Amino acid sequence: MGILDGKRILVAGVTMDSSIGFATAKVAQEQGATVLISNFGRALGITRRIAKRLPVEPPVLELDVTDPEHLERLPELVREHVDGLDGVVHSIAYGNPETLLGGKFMTGPWEDVAQAVHVSAYSLASLSRAVRPLMGPGSSVVGLTFDATVAWPAYDWMGVAKAGLESTSRYLARELGADGIRCNLVSAGPLKTLAAKAIPGFSDLEAMWETRAPLGWDNADQTPTAKAVCALLSDFFPATTGEIVHVDGGFHAMGA
Ligand SMILES: NC(=O)c1ccc[n+]([C@@H]2O[C@H](COP(=O)([O-])OP(=O)(O)OC[C@H]3O[C@@H](n4cnc5c(N)ncnc54)[C@H](O)[C@@H]3O)[C@@H](O)[C@H]2O)c1
Repeated sequence: MGILDGKRILVAGVTMDSSIGFATAKVAQEQGATVLISNFGRALGITRRIAKRLPVEPPVLELDVTDPEHLERLPELVREHVDGLDGVVHSIAYGNPETLLGGKFMTGPWEDVAQAVHVSAYSLASLSRAVRPLMGPGSSVVGLTFDATVAWPAYDWMGVAKAGLESTSRYLARELGADGIRCNLVSAGPLKTLAAKAIPGFSDLEAMWETRAPLGWDNADQTPTAKAVCALLSDFFPATTGEIVHVDGGFHAMGA
């Protein structure tokens, strides 16, 4: 018996086996779910190869969250494999590392900021809107954030995009609640993924976790984060929505 037995789950944003989305797909399958994964553009070829490393090779769908046609055809693509969805994981973010991150806050150009907000925050709403017809009462949307209640070194405009994501999640909780659909986020500590390695100065953040997280923190272990995402997808959080669950070794609760 797994906590996701019989559930149909789409994990959007899997590139490498280091992706949080990959770990989530793995734990979800181990917990009994039927999983579909998605990615976009040139990375799609990598996703197709990486998908074979999961316990069960899942269907790989093409989804660029900034492409309205992709969002419109998503339900049709999903229905080729399953007749509905009980959960959707938004594991997607992008901000141009050369112009927006690593000490570029004061010079970040609007076009790049707009792209970061589109891909990393607005897309939680557009993805939820796209899959809403596939979901019913008890379904769950889960996204990934990096605590946006404070300003970090290096994270810069991605921090602003994450603040937008966190607010978007609360508004979605409001909107989707009427259909019995929950929307929550997991706020993870720093993890060595493709997206994180692209952030100049990310190692400074990682160093802080080494000294401050009371439980300690393994930045190469995506499983604790994936387990929390799966818990939020399951029936074990039936009355929780608009919430942010921290999976950071306790870092967020410490003053120093
Ligand atoms: N790695 C960390 O330290 C960390 C910490 C907290 C939160 N997060 C968040 O976790 C999520 C997953 O990131 P990750 O660290 O696993 O990195 P990752 O690079 O493995 O995953 C990011 C995914 O987003 C996809 N993506 C980017 N633009 C897209 C678009 N337009 N349409 C569809 N997909 C698109 C990428 O192809 C990739 O698969 C992100 O929201 C990230 O901000 C990461």
